[in-house]
Amino acid sequence: MSSAERLGMSLGETMFSLRAIRRMKPDPISDDDLRDILTATTQAPSGGNSQPWHFLVVQHDTKRAQFAELYREAWWAKRADAGIKGPEDIPESNRSARAAMRLADEIGIAPVIVLVCATARGAGAMTSVIPATQNLLLAARALGIGGTITTLHAVTDERVHALFDIPESVQVVYCVPLGYPRGNFGPVSRTPLQEVTSLDRWSEVPAWSKA
Ligand SMILES: Cc1cc2nc3c(=O)[nH]c(=O)nc-3n(C[C@H](O)[C@H](O)[C@H](O)COP(=O)(O)O)c2cc1C
Repeated sequence: MSSAERLGMSLGETMFSLRAIRRMKPDPISDDDLRDILTATTQAPSGGNSQPWHFLVVQHDTKRAQFAELYREAWWAKRADAGIKGPEDIPESNRSARAAMRLADEIGIAPVIVLVCATARGAGAMTSVIPATQNLLLAARALGIGGTITTLHAVTDERVHALFDIPESVQVVYCVPLGYPRGNFGPVSRTPLQEVTSLDRWSEVPAWSKA
């Protein structure tokens, strides 16, 4: 059976139930599943089909633990940039931020962490990894595996490179923890279609956009 056949969930169900999964079981992900997920990832388009990407799959317990420390530091460094000093500055009502904060403590539980890398510096290579990352999440979802896109921070950049022997010319764009969810997939909460679409001119709401 090919990777495409093994990812048999309907596209509609996959897309509409793909929400950020941040709480994961430690259960391992099989090599077959990893191969299918990464194969689907690399089917994505890129500028001029240049495929300026590399996917560093982190599975080893010690490496994940070491990376988890750096991830936590990076997460709080991003908050500090925004004037947020500690958990007390993140209201309980901001569920997304609270969940992200918990992930900063728990990312090491994820059995796999994929570092999505651009093999060149600059915007061209960086934007080319975006469709691939979405493919990665969709393929994982089709296999019942959750994850979310996350970013790091310059403060940990050198140490992340050193930890995994990543060449200096390579940019770590995203960090995607993967695992079987504790909790459920979708549905997602999004702005209604009529508020984010126009027809032929800005602000002309398409009739078909209304539910
Ligand atoms: C470019 C990008 C960066 C993100 N960075 C983080 C992050 O650093 N930490 C995190 O927990 N989630 C991160 N997310 C996940 C979003 O917060 C999440 O997808 C969004 O809140 C919608 O949630 P939902 O997909 O569950 O509906 C990121 C998503 C994107 C697309």
